[in-house]
This record gives sequence, structure tokens and C-alpha cells, in this order.
Amino acid sequence: MLPRGDTVVWAERGGPAVTNLPATGYMNLADIEAAARAVVPPPQWDYIAGGAADETTLAENSAAYRRIRLRPRVLRDVAQRDLTTTVLGEPIAFPVLLAPVSPLSLACPQAELLAARAAAQAGVRMIAPTQGAHTIHELAAQATAPLWFQLYPSCNRAVTEALIDQAQAAGCTALVVTLSAFYASFRERDRRSGYSVPAELWAANLLHLPGVRPDDPDFDRVLPITWADLAWIRARTTLPLVLKGIMTAEDAELAVEQGIAGLIVSNHGGRQLDGTLPTIEALPEVVEGAAGRCEVYLDGGIRRGTDVLKALALGARAVCIGRPYVWGLAWNGEAGVLRVLEQLRSELDSAMAQMGRRTIADLDR
Ligand SMILES: Cc1cc2nc3c(=O)[nH]c(=O)nc-3n(C[C@H](O)[C@H](O)[C@H](O)COP(=O)(O)O)c2cc1C
Repeated sequence: MLPRGDTVVWAERGGPAVTNLPATGYMNLADIEAAARAVVPPPQWDYIAGGAADETTLAENSAAYRRIRLRPRVLRDVAQRDLTTTVLGEPIAFPVLLAPVSPLSLACPQAELLAARAAAQAGVRMIAPTQGAHTIHELAAQATAPLWFQLYPSCNRAVTEALIDQAQAAGCTALVVTLSAFYASFRERDRRSGYSVPAELWAANLLHLPGVRPDDPDFDRVLPITWADLAWIRARTTLPLVLKGIMTAEDAELAVEQGIAGLIVSNHGGRQLDGTLPTIEALPEVVEGAAGRCEVYLDGGIRRGTDVLKALALGARAVCIGRPYVWGLAWNGEAGVLRVLEQLRSELDSAMAQMGRRTIADLDR
């Protein structure tokens, strides 16, 4: 067995499918989760790990992948795989994005900056959250690749406008509007621990907006928007809009009619409405509703390269991960995020080879 830190080099033919991964020690995302859990205090850990109510959806998001079986094809020339693809026309190294998570600084100091750097270095996109300890400008200054900005619309329209303008000025290339967390949910772990996130960890973007006053009663209140508000947001920006939290074909069709560029099938990582379908089971109907007229992504429960492969095969253009890169941050900062991404990339690469698929476009149901 190789000592920890050595490089595993696979088959001569096909080149090194896996590089830079230690042979022993941290084998997979579950190992990195365990390492993270050892360093994050229990109330903060529960805030990150927990879901709503009975946590059925949280558990199902991952469990559902185990019910999907693969049909490998053989004797194809898959020696050279190509995992590159595009999202909204932007080239990425492999189809895994960093989902918006707030506040990331629960994992480690400067977490948002480290994640932004890691995503750029890995050649993927980070969806930077509205709520964090650093402004979108500070994140953009660290990242050598464009960011996407996740928007929580505010009850104060001036705040929403300023957030959109800030994101655009910071060079963000897409606006991701989150629809799955307008209302409080029953996160019982947090209610039991009494943990609530301190303002310095989540309010940086809001506090730096020109003309916005923290004593405004609507300052930090998220507006539960409707389709009509969405049209207003769309008119306000030239950035492509992505809707995060679409779970049905009906809503996918309405979104397409509004000229939405992308949809993220998401139940907010099981943190909001308990009892929804796991996202991988909602994906096919959303893909059908979108009918090729916009891109469809998915998040929730992705823990293995084969999970990524299954989502792509069922019609996702790319997937996003939430908790796994938070584990990476807590365990080992920027290098931890890179390691999480590399783990998924190399597992996906191996699965593609063994499925007889050379490119992302070759994956089908
Ligand atoms: C601690 C935590 C905070 C989150 N904060 C946000 C947020 O501010 N905005 C948002 O759109 N989604 C948020 N999410 C949801 C993630 O973007 C994503 O949908 C989810 O984490 C995906 O599931 P996974 O963690 O199983 O990968 C959060 C998730 C977690 C775990």
C-alpha cells in the first residue's frame, strides 16, 4: 500500500484517471465529512448538516441514487475521456459547481474567499451567496474565474436592485434566484441547540450596499416573490437568470415562458419542505418540462462521481454540491475544497470509462 500523500496512477492506456489523490487516509467524501465533523462545534455542525422536520428529504436526496442502477457498455474506445462541458455557454472543466451556502464561515475563517479561489482553480463555477461574511466584490477579487451570484430578493426593492447591480459590477455572469427558502422551516436541530447565525457571518453584502440602512425594518427580510416579481428582476438585469428550487414540470414550463436561462432542481438540500421528492427523482419531469429550451442543473445529496453521472444521464447539464465542499473547507480550507472537487472529478472519470462513455454528451438514460 502506498503511504498517504502518494499519487495513484491508473492504467497506462487512458492515462492517469486519478491524480493527486492520496492512496490511503481520505478515500472519499464520507471520510472528509468525518474529518470535518471532528473540528466543527456541534451546534454549527448541526446547522450545516441538518434538514427540516424528520429529515426524510435530506436522507432521500442521497439514498435515491442507490436505487438507480447503471448499464455499462463495453469494447468502446474510451481511453481518452473528456469531462469538459459548458454551463450557460461558459466552459468548465467538469460538470460540478459549488452551490450557494451561507454562511460558509461556519466552516473556517475566510471560507467564501477560499471557496471562490478553489472553484476557479478547479475550473468550475461557484454560486456566491447573497449572505456571507464577505462582499461579492471581495470574492470576485480572489477568483480567477467568473462567479455566479445567488440572489435572495429583499422586501426592500432598493436592496434587491443594489444587490443585482453589485453582482453585475463584480463581473458575475449569471443571477441565481433562490425560490426554495422564502419561508421558515422546522429545522429542529437548530431549535434544540438554540443556534442562530451571527450577523457578521452573513450580512456583508447587505451592509456594503450604497444607500442601504441596517435600521430599515425590511433591511434583511427576504421577499417571497411571485412570477410577476420575477419579470421585474429579469427586466432589471442583462445577466441570464437561473431559478433555484424548481421541482415540477409545470414550473419548468412557466420558467421557460419567462425566458429563464437555467433551472436548478433543488429542495434546498432537504432543509426546507420535508417530504418532497429527492431531487434526482424530480429531475426527469423538470427536464421534460424544460424540453431543451433552457439548461437544467440539480443539487442535493451528490456524494459520489456515480451520483454525478446518474444526474447527467437523466438530463442535468451539471450538478451543484453544498455540504461536501463545506466539509472540505472545515477539514483543510482551500485545499480541502480542491480535494472534494478532485475526488468527484476522478470518480466521475472512472465511472465514465467503465460505462463506455467518452464525453459528457455521450451520457444518456
Ligand atoms: C448550511 C447550508 C446553507 C445554505 N445556504 C443557502 C443559501 O444561502 N442560499 C441558497 O440558495 N441555498 C443555500 N443552501 C442550499 C444549497 O445551495 C444546496 O441547495 C444544498 O446544500 C444541496 O444539497 P447538498 O448539501 O446535499 O449538496 C444551503 C445549504 C446548507 C447545507
